[in-house]
Amino acid sequence: MKIHKGLFIVFEGVDGAGSSTQAQMLQDYFTKVGQKSVISPEPSSGPIGKLLRTFLGGKNDFDDQDLYDQQMAYLFAADRHYHLYNNLDGVYDLNAKNIHVISTRYYFSSLAYNGKTKKDYDFVSILNQKFPPPDLVIYLDIPVKLALERMENRPSKEIYETQEKLLKVRERFSEIFANYPHKILKIDAKENQNTIHQTIVNYLETWNK
Ligand code: TMP
Repeated sequence: MKIHKGLFIVFEGVDGAGSSTQAQMLQDYFTKVGQKSVISPEPSSGPIGKLLRTFLGGKNDFDDQDLYDQQMAYLFAADRHYHLYNNLDGVYDLNAKNIHVISTRYYFSSLAYNGKTKKDYDFVSILNQKFPPPDLVIYLDIPVKLALERMENRPSKEIYETQEKLLKVRERFSEIFANYPHKILKIDAKENQNTIHQTIVNYLETWNK
């Protein structure tokens, strides 16, 4: 594999699409071929990311649902800025040290999850417009019914993990990625995890060809 710089690779998909499993398999692959990588999810492990995780777990004091969506969008954007630019383990610092960064989720998730109307979408787009596209986005597309079945055995649920929400989120993702002008790999995530992983490896192996 001939990749000579640290890449910023993002997995996207509805909850339950298998991003965390694939991120781990990709990291194992990089280790096997002698390349350094870290898994660095969003929300991040920084201060705003931690706050977001408590909200996602259902604990929050917001009282107005519409304002809540906007305030969450601001927090996700602030956390994203930290994720990219902090100088402890920020994405671009790691990339500059030739370390690949594998992120589960990026601004595509804000566009897909944090708003209901076209107006909300435009607002979230503006909040996120200065963030650079990743080197590659891998979109794991899965029917919501199957994603929910896969999540059935998880010990706790997060606020967005409902059928109604995820059906809208999947629709949004498909619109966003239909017109996405940068590098993207779209994968049918109904496939088994080894097949999906192999598709990703095959793609990366042709990176510089
Ligand atoms: P996770 O399931 O990948 O841990 O993500 C946590 C939840 O956060 C997931 O339901 C999607 C949601 N989310 C947003 O709503 N907006 C965002 O910008 C991000 C990064 C995640």
